[in-house]
Order: sequence, then structure tokens, then C-alpha cells
Amino acid sequence: MPGSRITALGHYQPSRVLTNAELEQLVDTNDAWIRQRTGIVTRRIAAEQETVADMAAEAAAKALAASGLEPADIGLVTVATCSNRDRCPSTAAQVAARLGIPSAVCFDLNNGCAGFCTALATADHTLRAGAAKHALVIGAEKMSDLLEWTDRSTCILLGDGAGVAVLSATEGTGEDRAGIGPVVWGSDPTRGDAVRLMGAWQPRFAQEGQSVFRWATSELPAVAREACARAGLTPADLGGVVTHQANLRIIESLTRQLGLREDVVIARDVVDSGNTSAASVPLALSKLVESGELPSGSPVLLFAFGGGLSWAGQVVTCP
Ligand code: UT7
Repeated sequence: MPGSRITALGHYQPSRVLTNAELEQLVDTNDAWIRQRTGIVTRRIAAEQETVADMAAEAAAKALAASGLEPADIGLVTVATCSNRDRCPSTAAQVAARLGIPSAVCFDLNNGCAGFCTALATADHTLRAGAAKHALVIGAEKMSDLLEWTDRSTCILLGDGAGVAVLSATEGTGEDRAGIGPVVWGSDPTRGDAVRLMGAWQPRFAQEGQSVFRWATSELPAVAREACARAGLTPADLGGVVTHQANLRIIESLTRQLGLREDVVIARDVVDSGNTSAASVPLALSKLVESGELPSGSPVLLFAFGGGLSWAGQVVTCP
């Protein structure tokens, strides 16, 4: 089967680190509560003038350089984001302009925190159909723009950053085999307001935290298992698991229920980066590959979920 695979990754995080101690000065919270309930210790916050496109372009430039491709080779650029300010030109088109990508199809995709895995599947399907040979698939968010900094239930959770995967079409044989498994995706629109960014600019992030927590830990393990099954694997075959980085307790509960091998690598970037929405999966994946923790060729489950309520996940081969 012709398909596509990830050939390179890249990520970018703003330099400003916001600690729990600093948040104690802003709202009625404390380091112990934040660590115990969320696992978060720090998060990165973009500079006031720094945009989603700035962060996406920084990460994309690194991924493109690592891939060895030329800008003109890229036929599709997509940015998964729910925090970009500009409607047109799209964030993807702004990234293409900065990187000198001359004529790719460029579009943004908003599926909340499930955005990156949704964009990855969309790009994979496009490459399988022969409509492009190489794609930049980006998750980038400036969630700090959407926070009410006086609301302790939300302002401690989120952060900013970007992660990118370069996707290339494969013949589907031998070393060049397809590296993106079939996607499992969907939504429960009847619960659309359980995670919200509603109203005119600037909307404020809000959610029913407990009910989303219960949904993620009770209904989503079966979906994650289905993504493995559709790739012809069981969770015990995985070398790594990179879920949406919303809460360390969700990550521990979800992965515990899958029946993974003891030596499986589980992304826990939420501790350092907070919840970066659609950026969290590619950011965590890129960091694990860069640090050498995830070896090339490992089957890795990517699994994202959130606003919508939506989910998307697939098993990919680590570049
Ligand atoms: O990325 C999109 C998808 N979203 C998710 O996956 C998020 C899922 N939900 C969660 O991660 C958790 O529900 C939260 C981290 C958002 C909240 O944790 P929780 O354990 O569900 O806390 P809670 O909302 O039930 O609040 C418990 C208590 C409340 O006080 P009372 O009513 O018991 O007196 C809150 O007012 O903790 C209080 N509280 C805080 N206390 C100190 C809420 N925020 C804070 C805070 N510091 N920052």
C-alpha cells in the first residue's frame, strides 16, 4: 500500500518559563495543588508580540532543515491551531511565505486539542491520493492569549509552543513502508461546550474539568486500543505513547489501562510545558526523538483529544 511516513520533526518553545510560584502571586493557588491535580511544574509563555505563525515557522524551519528537503519540494502545509488571530492569510500560508515554500496548498485546521492528529491523518490521506509528495504538518498554539489570568481554574493549565512533522509519500514496500497507521477519529458534539473557546475575539478558555477528566479516563482507552488494532498491533507492541498533554493524572490513568510493556516510553511533557492544545502531541514527540529516548523505527501511538469533544489518534513509525 502506498502511504506516507514522518521523516523529520521539529519544535519551538518560547524562552519565558512561568513557574507555579509565580502563579501563586497572581491567583489564589499553590504549587502543591497544581502538581498534585495536574502534574504541571512549568509552562512556556510567548512574548506579547510573538504570534502563532512565528512559533510555527521557527519549528517548521528546523523540521524542514532536518528533512533535507528543499522548500519547493513541499506540496502541503497545514497548521492545527485554535488560537491563531489571523483568518486570512492562514497561519499555514504565513509559514510558507517565511520558509520560501513557493506554491503549496496551505490551510489551517481547527479541531481543538485533537488538531494535530487530525491534520496528520488529513495530510496522510492527501499524500496517499497523490495530491502532494511532501507535507509540513504543524501544531502551534498561543493559548496564553486566551486565558483569563484571574481565573485559577484555567490560567495554571495552559502554555504556548509548536511542533512539526515532515511527512513524505512512500511506495509502501521495505524500508519505505507506510509509517502512518489508519486514523481513529470522531467527536461527541452533544458535549461540545465541555471545552470552550466561544464568542468574538478574544474568547476565553473554559471547560467542565471534572467531566472532561472522566470522559478522557473512562471512554478514551478503548479508542486508543482501536487505533492500535487498526494498525495491526496491540498496545503491548508499542515502543512509545504520546497522548495529548492535558494532565499527568489523565496520562497515567489512560496508559495504565492500555496494558503497555514496562519499557514503553510515555510522553510526560505536560510537567514542563503545560497543556499546549494542538501543539502538545508534536511538541512532546519531537522532544522525545531529539533526546534519543524514542529510537528510530519504534511504533508510537499518537492520541489527541479535547474541545469538540473530539479525538484522533494513529500509530506512527518513529523517524
Ligand atoms: O485540553 C482540553 C481537554 N481538557 C482536559 O483534558 C482537562 C481535564 N480535567 C482536568 O485536568 C482537571 O479536572 C483539572 C486539572 C482541570 C481540575 O482538577 P480537579 O481535580 O478536577 O479539580 P476541581 O475542578 O474539581 O476543583 C477542586 C477544588 C475546587 O475547590 P472546592 O470547590 O472543592 O472548594 C476548586 O475551586 O480545587 C479548587 N481549585 C483550585 N485550588 C487551588 C481549582 N483550581 C485551583 C487552583 N488552585 N489553581
